[in-house]
Amino acid sequence: MVRTLDSIESIGVVGAGTMGSGIAQVAARHGYDVVMRDVEEEFVQRGFDSIEDSLDRFVSKDELTEDEAEETVERITGTTDLADLADCDVVVEAAVEDMDIKRDIFADLDEAVPDDVVLATNTSTLSITTIAAATEREDRVVGLHFMNPVPVMKGVEVVVGEKTDEDVVEFAHALAEDLGKETWESDDKPGFVTNRILMPWINEGIRAYDEGVASKEDIDKGMKLGTNVPMGPLELADHIGLDICLDASETLHEELGDRYKPAYLLKRKVDAGDLGKKTGEGFYEH
Ligand code: CAA
Repeated sequence: MVRTLDSIESIGVVGAGTMGSGIAQVAARHGYDVVMRDVEEEFVQRGFDSIEDSLDRFVSKDELTEDEAEETVERITGTTDLADLADCDVVVEAAVEDMDIKRDIFADLDEAVPDDVVLATNTSTLSITTIAAATEREDRVVGLHFMNPVPVMKGVEVVVGEKTDEDVVEFAHALAEDLGKETWESDDKPGFVTNRILMPWINEGIRAYDEGVASKEDIDKGMKLGTNVPMGPLELADHIGLDICLDASETLHEELGDRYKPAYLLKRKVDAGDLGKKTGEGFYEH
């Protein structure tokens, strides 16, 4: 049995860093009571500070009233005790990207919250299946991968573990949509859709800079104006955090090896004369 979205009133968030505090903010902004937990009081406070900064930005643009911002913050309770999540109807974990730490958290959550509560992880590259295996509810563990900055970015990646129940997948999509997001789905393969594709792009930008192809400003400008993305690879790496990029890249490298050769399918399509829009056929029909 999985809880349906209309029975969900409170959301537990594990981790009050950039992602956790962003998720807590968005959940509270959409009317949920939130319990936001981190290991130190100081980290919890930092989470609240960043939520207040972000809400202030919406207030200054008249997208939120001061009262709404205040109510949003009031719906969030901070804690350092995982047991305080016991009454939450769903939990989203956004702690550090370390498999051992995540598995410990999931084992503890499995003890702390009722059996029918879905446990979601915001992991960006680690295996949902391996995290789920630390619990006795592998069918009720799912990936809910938010994008940074969470209050601004529209997308959420729903990641389906080996044992994730179909109802839980549906629930994850519905929950993210209720938080004002749009979703897409990925199988539990390293990096899922986004980071599998994004990390080689960022690394290539970094290598191009290191090899003197262009200045860092021109690499970012070239990719922004040349491919119409909001940030070039070096800017985006800074925005995500270089440590996070390195962790993600190391996981991908370990799992997938050398991904930088031209894709076999790309060569095959060119050989077949399927060059994209100009020939009417590429990866899509035009
Ligand atoms: N809270 C509230 N508002 C915010 C905000 C936050 N945390 N961060 C930015 N904003 C708002 C700003 O107030 C501003 O609003 P207006 O345009 O209405 O004035 C708007 O967003 C744009 O911000 P800035 O003017 O400061 O700067 P910008 O135009 O460069 O935009 C950005 C910043 C929204 C981050 C934009 O550059 C962007 O979309 N960059 C790409 C981000 C991206 O790709 N994120 C995904 C990273 S991958 C990931 O997260 C997955 C992973 O696992 C690593």
